[in-house]
Amino acid sequence: MKMLKFLCLVILFTPIFASLPLKDYGPKLTEVVKHLHDECSILTGVTDTDIDNTRNGNFDEKNIYIMRYNACLWLHSDAFIPSDDGVPSLHGNKNLFLDIEPPKLKGKFAKMFMRCIDEARESGEKNFTVLAWNATNCLHRTDPENFVYP
Ligand SMILES: *[C@@H]1O[C@H](CO)[C@@H](O)[C@H](O)[C@H]1NC(C)=O
Ligand SMILES: *[C@@H]1O[C@H](CO)[C@@H](O)[C@H](O)[C@H]1NC(C)=O
Repeated sequence: MKMLKFLCLVILFTPIFASLPLKDYGPKLTEVVKHLHDECSILTGVTDTDIDNTRNGNFDEKNIYIMRYNACLWLHSDAFIPSDDGVPSLHGNKNLFLDIEPPKLKGKFAKMFMRCIDEARESGEKNFTVLAWNATNCLHRTDPENFVYP
């Protein structure tokens, strides 16, 4: 019984601190997030539970499906400015982030993405899946309450 009470408390209180509520996304981000979620789910076979766990800050780098899903999100989102050879430059596409900035995070959202992309690029990590994972980690670490995860 005690255990049950404890579980109820955990379930009740966890969502308060976990990620930006969908209603605060604004129309543009909502559309981008839905598109990425659908496309990258199909491509990688990740489960919604894996995605929810990540959204709530439980990063499981042993789970190759969520790792691939995460890499897909970054690659399929125009998050990076393309370079001449068509390979992502690992330089953040600031105009995109400004364009989809949720009203609640005006002046914060794009800045946070640019900073985490810079951090990931400057780490010199060669494996894109790992680099993308670390960039996502950085976003969550910076502001868990306003974390956005498709
Ligand atoms: C990326 O994150 C992993 C942990 O997930 C860490 O071991 C690694 O050092 C990080 N890489 C860089 C280059 O920061
Ligand atoms: C890159 O990292 C992922 C995730 O850890 C791993 O599965 C993959 O084999 C790595 N790729 C290379 C080329 O090392």
